[in-house]
Amino acid sequence: MSENAPLGIDVNTPNVARIYDYMLGGKDNFAADREAVEQIIKAFPESREGVKLNREFLGNAVRYLTAEVGISQFIDIGAGLPTQSTVHQVAHGVNPEARAVYVDNDPIVCVHGRALLANSPTVAMVEGDLRRPEEIWSRALETGLIDGGQPVGVLLVAVLHFLEDPYEEVAKLRELMAPGSHLVITHLSMRDERSDDTETVRQVYSKASSGVVPRSLDDIRRFFGDFELLDSGKFISAHLLRRFSILGWAGIGRKP
Ligand SMILES: C[S@@+](CC[C@H](N)C(=O)[O-])C[C@H]1O[C@@H](n2cnc3c(N)ncnc32)[C@H](O)[C@@H]1O
Repeated sequence: MSENAPLGIDVNTPNVARIYDYMLGGKDNFAADREAVEQIIKAFPESREGVKLNREFLGNAVRYLTAEVGISQFIDIGAGLPTQSTVHQVAHGVNPEARAVYVDNDPIVCVHGRALLANSPTVAMVEGDLRRPEEIWSRALETGLIDGGQPVGVLLVAVLHFLEDPYEEVAKLRELMAPGSHLVITHLSMRDERSDDTETVRQVYSKASSGVVPRSLDDIRRFFGDFELLDSGKFISAHLLRRFSILGWAGIGRKP
């Protein structure tokens, strides 16, 4: 985005999608977003590597679900601005007929996504808020790309930590997913040994478009309910997962 912001964009408040974009080396951000990133990096110099690992995990998860489980439909909630190795690009590398619905509650992210996805018949971008999971579900079905009776890959990647207490919402999503569906989650974690740094990050986000709620590994795992947890080491090396654990945790669960 140029520094001459279009009307309607608040360039002075750091925005969680644009903070992440800048972390990933993207260009869709403004000075306030970049300033927030600099402060986060001071507390967690590992952050840039962390967001890359996050994307790597997402790509490996989608490749696995498409190639080995045979899932051909995905709903990516809190999809954000990333333009490379997106869910449909990775899935199409295995199955060109795979479908993806991207969901985000940020209208600017949605405008951006629609522009990028124009002329892609197997992909859609819909506006929706994770705090209203049934609405997200019905909008995803309305695109005609998702068959609610078939297994689906639902991605909640680096988004749940922007919600205060989203356990009921995630439980609703789990309930709506057909048996054999998979839930992919990555989440900012909270480690006692880095509690001061975590507090700094929390402060930075408190001035952004959304606050942040890092959680313990146990609390992150609770999002999977009774889903069968797969071995995360299949999707990211144990060594990287350990490094990543300072910042976050990543997992995949299968609905029985
Ligand atoms: C850090 S980005 C993650 C992007 C992508 N999932 C990834 O991990 O590469 C988080 C995204 O979640 C979106 N988001 C935050 N709260 C949300 C909510 N309540 N419902 C839907 N999307 C939300 C933000 O707008 C942002 O685009």
